[in-house]
Amino acid sequence: MVAKATVLVTGGAGYIGSHTVRQLIRQGYGVVVCDDLSRGHRWAVPDGIPLIVADIADTTALVQAMQLHGVDAVMHFAAVSQVGESMSDPRLYYSNNVAGTVHLLNACMETNVRRFVYSSSAAVYGEPDKVPVDEDSTLKPTSVYGRTKLMVEKMLHDYATAYGLQYAALRYFNAAGADPAGGLGEDHQPETHLIPIAVQAALGRRGAVQVFGTDYPTADGTCIRDYVHVCDLADAHILALESLASCPEAAYNLGNGSGFSVREVLGSVERVTGRKVPSVVAARRPGDPAVLVASSDRIRRTLGWKPVLADLDVMVETVWQWEQHKLAL
Ligand code: UFG
Repeated sequence: MVAKATVLVTGGAGYIGSHTVRQLIRQGYGVVVCDDLSRGHRWAVPDGIPLIVADIADTTALVQAMQLHGVDAVMHFAAVSQVGESMSDPRLYYSNNVAGTVHLLNACMETNVRRFVYSSSAAVYGEPDKVPVDEDSTLKPTSVYGRTKLMVEKMLHDYATAYGLQYAALRYFNAAGADPAGGLGEDHQPETHLIPIAVQAALGRRGAVQVFGTDYPTADGTCIRDYVHVCDLADAHILALESLASCPEAAYNLGNGSGFSVREVLGSVERVTGRKVPSVVAARRPGDPAVLVASSDRIRRTLGWKPVLADLDVMVETVWQWEQHKLAL
């Protein structure tokens, strides 16, 4: 058997990165994780996987690790990713997400690593012109976070043109869920995402869920989002990596193509947990678009990506399992 590539996973101790690390290992890839552990967790990195505790801006550490482990490709998850925080602390976002990525890319150039899969976001579209959102929709981010993700996409294009970098930018809609195999899931401090907040409220670990806005132009007045399972996202990264030779420069949306309102999500959590989710109506959260639903036709058609954990209740069930497991830790 031909040995599979060795992949450096930045942010591999974080939520989406750690699920992708597991999937890469299952598929026989070599994996090296780089994470500064500012938001990721050491427990999320499997035993036996090299963990470089370093900032992505530390070119020397990255070059050394890439040479030592014979890295062939990079999956770049390391980033700060909260829309609200990006507006109040843009310096943190431009430093980590933009400047940090310049250093990472330069480490790749120095070590002749030319394959790169990038965690982008639906935030690059801002308030969409039309729904579902395809990749040709206008790119006009409304948050600093979205702008940092778009700036890096533009850098990747320039590195591709000048240096032959091959890359795929994966624009996630709402990442959700936890590995059904157990022992791994989302753990943000503070948690801002709807599904874990609702499950924690069902467990009585926090108070009522604040429903941010009930006067949106949607059927029940609450925002609609496209939730996509983190393991399906992980699979998409591997497909994207394997397709770089034939599709050396691409952007793909990752979503299920169906949207659920905040109230529908709370309903799903009540169904799955069999418990009441206490909720209160609150003001709109600044910067929230009313509806964000992906068209993922491009990656389905081009790479044959097919989400397998697309059902909302199934996604919530994996979070329910994970949150109970966390309680027992
Ligand atoms: N929401 C609530 N109450 C909460 C938390 C969320 O009503 O306590 C609502 C939000 O207003 C939104 C929906 O639930 O309408 C989903 O909110 P999340 O915070 O779970 O996710 P977002 O859609 O805000 O953000 C996600 C990613 C971002 C990314 C964005 C792309 O987390 O990184 O999608 O638009 F930028």
